[in-house]
Amino acid sequence: MIGQIIGGSYGEIWIRQKSGERIELGDLLVADDILLQVFDLEYGSLMEKNDIARISGMQLEGYGDTHVHENELRNYILVKAKPLFNLRTRRIPKHLPSFFNILRRASSEDFKFLEKPENAIYLGKIRSGSKILDVPVYINGKDALTHHILIPATTGRGKSNLVKVILWNLIGKSYAGVLVLDAHNEYYSYKKNGKNYGLKYHPDAKSNVIYYSTNPPVGERALRVNIKNVKPWHLREIIEFSPAQEDALYLYYKEYGEYWIEAILASDMNEERNKIKGVKPETLASLQRKLKVALEIDINKNGEVYERGKIFSTREGERTIRDICDFLEDGKIVILDTSSLSQNLELLISEMIMSEIFSRYKSYKEEGKLDYKPVISVVIEEAPRVLGEGKSNIFGTIAREGRKFNIGIIAITQLSSMIPREILANLNTKIILGNEMSSERKAIIGSAAQDLSKDDKMIASLDRGEAIISSIFTKFAIPIQIDSFEELVDRERVDRKRRENLLLFE
Ligand SMILES: Nc1ncnc2c1ncn2[C@@H]1O[C@H](COP(=O)(O)OP(=O)(O)OP(=O)(O)O)[C@@H](O)[C@H]1O
Ligand SMILES: [Mg+2]
Repeated sequence: MIGQIIGGSYGEIWIRQKSGERIELGDLLVADDILLQVFDLEYGSLMEKNDIARISGMQLEGYGDTHVHENELRNYILVKAKPLFNLRTRRIPKHLPSFFNILRRASSEDFKFLEKPENAIYLGKIRSGSKILDVPVYINGKDALTHHILIPATTGRGKSNLVKVILWNLIGKSYAGVLVLDAHNEYYSYKKNGKNYGLKYHPDAKSNVIYYSTNPPVGERALRVNIKNVKPWHLREIIEFSPAQEDALYLYYKEYGEYWIEAILASDMNEERNKIKGVKPETLASLQRKLKVALEIDINKNGEVYERGKIFSTREGERTIRDICDFLEDGKIVILDTSSLSQNLELLISEMIMSEIFSRYKSYKEEGKLDYKPVISVVIEEAPRVLGEGKSNIFGTIAREGRKFNIGIIAITQLSSMIPREILANLNTKIILGNEMSSERKAIIGSAAQDLSKDDKMIASLDRGEAIISSIFTKFAIPIQIDSFEELVDRERVDRKRRENLLLFE
């Protein structure tokens, strides 16, 4: 017994903490089969305010013996808790636990009812305050991925770590393909304390994790894309065109097909070369300038287009986008190291890939083949870049209607408030890590699948790797502790060694 109910109301049950016990913010308690979670703590006292101040004054100013008679009876800590779940009926509780009910801490036994769903993704262990219970928490991968996942947190709270844990568990599972736009090159392979970590070191990584980089290490794939694969509509998000310029793009595309960019660059108004009727010289000139800058290409005196940048090529990379889409459709994890690309180029590449996936999956749906294909998700860091107000790109389309085609987003952000409410509400699983900014917490709480209106202080106090899962696929908002990715990899290595040794002895 650690406390007793002494008042309050449905969403705010008051509990007197037993002296000598320590109840923390986020602790899980049980009364009458009802699981409660602590969301606030206060001092309570039976003494008059003035008496308290007087006693304190005497202690501080050295006025002799100021022992408070029956201190543990007269002064206590008042705990405020909210009902989370009815452990017996397995529903949202609709009644109050009885008055004066004595509480106990929740234990792993209480969570026996949590089942391992189909296509389970492991997220972490149940957490009571900062204490970890030995109860693994899973979520149905197909459901969660296609209904989008939001991972909001202040920097350094463990967003990338969580995504690595999720992906590690998805490697080799053929039901999902995931595209990772890795702006910090931190997912595939990195060193920490002299040891190698990353998704590359998963035992099934060889055939299931595909890595592309603009500076590929020996044996890895080069992220090179042929400009023939760029279509006019891919560019709308990264270049601002006037209506006349936009018309010209499409005219050239219609006339020259996949050679449209080269045709624009090579066209010369004076010599009638590649000229298209109705396109004014100024329009053409500024189109040429914009395309050269955006795609990092140029043209020489002989009219040959050449590359100046790392990614777009005039000769190589004709199959890159198609290959990446094929890998995804095969249920693999594809990591693109975009660390040395400008934001615009990263967006352009992801737009090209995801538009292709989207149109493929749209036709699978029409042909009734969708159920035989893996679901596809795309991990995007700093999500407001693409999901922010006024953006019109493939990510917005996926957030709004991707679910119909089994395509989802894993959106990572420090700034949820920059994502329009309508889209936030569409991201149906939120794995909420610590956040110091109250405006951010407000945006997250306001769009969560469960009522988290009392969770503000709890979210503010979440430490690294501590999270709350709020999802339409969980019956209540589940507090969890996420594993450290590096410990996960180390454990896997130890296990593998053990298995190998066993084999030797057999
Ligand atoms: N669950 C965890 N257990 C132990 N350590 C963790 C956990 N999550 C993160 N860390 C450690 O905390 C540090 C920061 O984590 P991480 O890079 O995942 O944060 P982030 O939220 O992605 O930060 P940023 O906003 O800078 O990208 C790393 O050193 C990581 O190893
Ligand atoms: Mg990160």
